[in-house]
Amino acid sequence: MFGSDKPSLRHLPENQARFDIDDDDELSRRPAQSEVHAALVRTFESPQYQPPMLPKVATELISLSAVRDVDVQQVVQVLERDSLLAGRVLKLANSPRFGGLVPIQSLRGAITRMGLREFRDLVLEAAMNSRIFRAPGYSDALDKLRMHAAATAHAARAVTRFTSFEAEYAFLCGLLHEAGSAAALVALADVPRGQTLRPMNDVWPVIEELHESLGQRLMTLWQMPAEVAMVIGNHHQLEIGGVVHPLAAIVLVAEHIVDGLGLGGPTALVPTGTDTLRKAQQLQKARAALGFDDARWRAVYKTVADALVGQKNDAAMK
Ligand SMILES: [Fe+2]
Ligand SMILES: [Fe+2]
Repeated sequence: MFGSDKPSLRHLPENQARFDIDDDDELSRRPAQSEVHAALVRTFESPQYQPPMLPKVATELISLSAVRDVDVQQVVQVLERDSLLAGRVLKLANSPRFGGLVPIQSLRGAITRMGLREFRDLVLEAAMNSRIFRAPGYSDALDKLRMHAAATAHAARAVTRFTSFEAEYAFLCGLLHEAGSAAALVALADVPRGQTLRPMNDVWPVIEELHESLGQRLMTLWQMPAEVAMVIGNHHQLEIGGVVHPLAAIVLVAEHIVDGLGLGGPTALVPTGTDTLRKAQQLQKARAALGFDDARWRAVYKTVADALVGQKNDAAMK
């Protein structure tokens, strides 16, 4: 079921990255931002940190889907243990983007129609839609992040049509790439009753700075595949061991297009004066790594834009 002509990315360097917070920018932070920075580092480095978790069956399903020749019935049995999630999956499977004329009535039917890998991605999408990250006071920001992540996931999958290698985890990386930002907001919202939340102007620049490391830490706690954790930890940085990781390049390109189409980027939350020159350089680097010259880039952009029309419709149905 997982057979493909494309070479796998799994030969790439194993996750060498660690939870490593760079303190070089300490001097450029305002005192309130330094305080946010310290609070986040303290929380995420604490052995007692208990992050928002994925539903257990979603985690199990990811491990199961990596098993060669896995039994479909086994997958169904795992998901059936969480009837709420199973219901959400079936609803998504019947959304117009799958274009089936005959409604899918069972999980087995969904797997048969879309294949196990896409089914796995759908389960994760349904799980992330169920508001794993909750933070009263920051819920507007979390909603925007969720929409941005979902759009980036669909964009990333569309981008893989133009790559020559197997990008099994493109959708997952797009879906989860801002999970560190969301977890950071949840952690910062955990304040004693009556205490006001820190304003986004102080919070967001620090989250932008730390969210790759925080996301990587979260992915490890969620027991995601090492490659996913590594890509999430480097989705702006792009390079791992001195080489651009193709999945990170896909996420960056996907995110750029999503932003360009007005489907939401975290920068829309609070303008933080992100270095646009650096962003442009990173985009060029990602495009070069994926072999997207100008003509190909136009085709990629159009394909992603078309794919996201369905995504917009799905969002409207929710
Ligand atoms: Fe993003
Ligand atoms: Fe990001």
